[in-house]
Amino acid sequence: MTTVRDYARRRQNLMQHIGDGIAILPSAPVARRNGDVLYRYRPDSDFFYLTGFSEPEAVAVLIPGRAKGEFLIFCRQRNSAEEMWDGHRAGLEGAVKGFNADDAFPMDDIEDILPGLLENRSKVYCNLGRYPDFDEQLLHWLSDVKKRKQSGISAPGELVDLGYILHELRLVKGASEIRAMKKAAAVSVAAHRRAMSRCRPGMFEYEIEAELEYAFRQGGAQYPAYPSIVAGGKNACILHYINNNQRLRRHDLLLIDAGAEIDCYCADITRTFPVSGRFSGRQKALYEIVLAAQLAAIDSVSPGASFIDPHETAVRTITIGLKDLKLLKGSVDSLVEKAAYRKFFTHRTSHWLGLDVHDVGEYRVGEAWRVLEPGMVLTIEPGIYVPQHRSIPEKWHEIGIRIEDDVLVTRQGHEVLTGEAPKDPAAIEALMASGN
Ligand code: GLY
Ligand code: MN
Ligand code: MN
Repeated sequence: MTTVRDYARRRQNLMQHIGDGIAILPSAPVARRNGDVLYRYRPDSDFFYLTGFSEPEAVAVLIPGRAKGEFLIFCRQRNSAEEMWDGHRAGLEGAVKGFNADDAFPMDDIEDILPGLLENRSKVYCNLGRYPDFDEQLLHWLSDVKKRKQSGISAPGELVDLGYILHELRLVKGASEIRAMKKAAAVSVAAHRRAMSRCRPGMFEYEIEAELEYAFRQGGAQYPAYPSIVAGGKNACILHYINNNQRLRRHDLLLIDAGAEIDCYCADITRTFPVSGRFSGRQKALYEIVLAAQLAAIDSVSPGASFIDPHETAVRTITIGLKDLKLLKGSVDSLVEKAAYRKFFTHRTSHWLGLDVHDVGEYRVGEAWRVLEPGMVLTIEPGIYVPQHRSIPEKWHEIGIRIEDDVLVTRQGHEVLTGEAPKDPAAIEALMASGN
């Protein structure tokens, strides 16, 4: 569990960089699905990281050094009639007592209060562009303050992207975040194991999706971290395939890319396995290349390594493997240099993982790729997707394979958070044969 002290520490870390500025973060608006139907609410990741507050219609304000309080929350007031429809609200008192706000105000009063908070602060730190309606309000409040210059009040002269500071902090995960990510990983592993053991030829992709999402919810996940990809046969070559409505054929592979979200932290796992429970020789030949690339890429994760090392390792291993199968021709060095693998491996090997599936944090620092540090979490997800092309023997056409794990950089090297989901062909076949 993330404690109120953890959140307070995060705010302190951020405020050290803000000086005489002010940070303003709205939570996410409620998203409408259609008519009166709303999506289940999910708070904004930055807002949640700093507050732990998960109600909609809320704004957090951080004002370092302000005598009357540095951390303010604007939120909904208690209202028994509305709470009967939509559930409990913390209210102003709850925001102070439960979330350690120095003060809390009704959202309805933000128009009156916020311009005053901007007075005499040098800069406004915010996520400009994320919520355009809020941006408009903010600009309006700023111009309000500017109008009061004659009374000796100064208005902030700069709008600064909050992400430059905050996303650097989010990139390195703390102990409670790692605990949450391990929980999301464990639930996701259980879901992949369930899907593997329940898969039978003739089932529909959505039946497997149901198995996965049963396990997510059963394990306490609030939602899938992203729409589950359950892609049989050639559908696996569509990277973001989510129709999940085709029948699974005995001789096909099934690619599942699915992860649970728990307390806003995500897992992101891909496994590819034979619908029949037994790999064919051809499937195994390609699969072994992806697996070797993935294992080598994981091995290259350690503090001091570069973010691009796992990708370069995967690229080389895949190039060698494709050359061995005569799907690429030429010297390995020149194939790598020409990026010939891109015909089969069309995406990058890694992204950051955390509160967002494609988590925040820069991948480069200046010109150079980022150096990995303990506490960073990244995915390792090489793949091979053979296109239907006359230059390629037909027997390989439209096979898609990806293997993805979530890897924590540790002081000693790395820890694979999702390793319990089988990926060795023999382990997959054994699990599928045992049926549990
Ligand atoms: N599931 C999205 C990704 O693997 O990046
Ligand atoms: Mn991923
Ligand atoms: Mn994925």
